Amino acid sequence: MPIIKKPNITYTGINQEIVLDDPNATLLDCSIMNQIPHLHECGGNGRCTTCRIRVIEGHNNLTPRTLIEKETTRIRKWDPSIRLACQCYAKDDVSIERLVWTSSEVNQLQLETVPDGVAEERAIAILFCDIRGFTKIVSENNTFDIAHILNRFYTVLGDPILINNGIIYQYVGDEIVGLFGVSGGMRDKNCKDAIRAALGMQYAIKRLNHTELVDFDINIKMGIGINFGKAYIGHLGHPKHKQFAVVGDPVNTASRIQSFNKEVKTSILISDSIYRGVPKDTLDIGQEFSNQMAGHEHQTKIYELKGFKEMDVQLQLQCSLDYLLRNEEEFASKFYDRVFEKAPEVRLLFKKNMTSQGRLLTHMLGGIVYSMSRPDHLKMGLKLLGESHSRYGVRKEHYPIVLSSLLETIEEELGEMYSGQLLSAWEQALTIITSEMKKYA
Ligand code: HEM
Ligand code: FES
Repeated sequence: MPIIKKPNITYTGINQEIVLDDPNATLLDCSIMNQIPHLHECGGNGRCTTCRIRVIEGHNNLTPRTLIEKETTRIRKWDPSIRLACQCYAKDDVSIERLVWTSSEVNQLQLETVPDGVAEERAIAILFCDIRGFTKIVSENNTFDIAHILNRFYTVLGDPILINNGIIYQYVGDEIVGLFGVSGGMRDKNCKDAIRAALGMQYAIKRLNHTELVDFDINIKMGIGINFGKAYIGHLGHPKHKQFAVVGDPVNTASRIQSFNKEVKTSILISDSIYRGVPKDTLDIGQEFSNQMAGHEHQTKIYELKGFKEMDVQLQLQCSLDYLLRNEEEFASKFYDRVFEKAPEVRLLFKKNMTSQGRLLTHMLGGIVYSMSRPDHLKMGLKLLGESHSRYGVRKEHYPIVLSSLLETIEEELGEMYSGQLLSAWEQALTIITSEMKKYA
């Protein structure tokens, strides 16, 4: 019998080498089996591209591209070294590097589908957010502090855009611009994503003012304007320096709506096209205005946005995620203590390192909150997770135990942030997740 050498898979970014025992395992399976965090939003179906890797060495030792991978490579214009880990198998040694490390990077990937050269007209929601009080920060702080504060702003204000399926288009002075629907999608979803992002940004700024900025004696305010309409999207510019650009009247109007906040002393204003873009009576609206925007002959209706009329589960989850997972290891250890106390026999199912297991669980919880803005991917991801759990020996009756342990840990960790509404949002989301996974037990 010839001795068949098992392939070595080297993960260059983390300097880890794995001997791949199972010839039927894809490179993504290899990561999952070895507790290496590897994003796979669509559950290995070749749709989301989050599992993408760069092959550093041993390109010819991988199986050829599948049809779906060929199509992805063509649309996104990848070079031959980029592969989808869920679509390829190693026949011999390979060195690879994971290319998408965090869920927050995922949405910027939409830019790969934007046409080169000729711009295309696409219906999008455009959000302009302006930070007020910035001049005071610049005049009263040293350069190092200003850079630190600015980076914090861009992070806390950018996250709500990214977590809601948007992309960060530009930073212009003290403004940040987000776009929703660049790669398509339904109008109501794109408008709702932009609205949720605006409310998330408002919450994030409030929190920043009450925590990190207290020491700087700064109270930042912001103004947001959102509009929906057809704009031209493409990679434009000098042939030697093209960059992603969005142009058109809806973009200028969004910027003007944002500025209008200053005149009428509001925080978030939305245009009539956003207001009409979401189902009737879903938004809590304050004042209504009618204004003639520069360059327009007609009056534009503008509405002050206060929030959603009913609790929005995604917004609640998004606003509490960071706080909840501020100490991931502690969260995971409290959670597993509860599970093992309720069902000691379950302990035997866990064969590998519990600290890495805890990190994977919290990584996955964060990923699930991000994937909620792409429900089709989420469903496919949960199918794979449910199937792998069935192989680990997890049974239907284990799911309620995990659900109640998670909710108790969340309630404890929420501490001062706790509210019945917040816990109920987590309960609704986790019930959906565990029910979906349970189908495969
Ligand atoms: C909210 C639901 C759950 C989530 C998000 C979750 C998440 C995860 C993740 C990300 C992994 C890493 C491996 C992989 O991706 O396949 C994992 C492994 C595992 N999970 Fe879960 N899980 C959930 C529910 C459960 C339940 C109900 C049980 C049963 C007690 C369970 C027991 C296990 C076991 C035994 C492993 C393998 C650990 C090992 O090989 O040492 N999980 N889980
Ligand atoms: S494309 Fe590989 S997991 Fe989605």
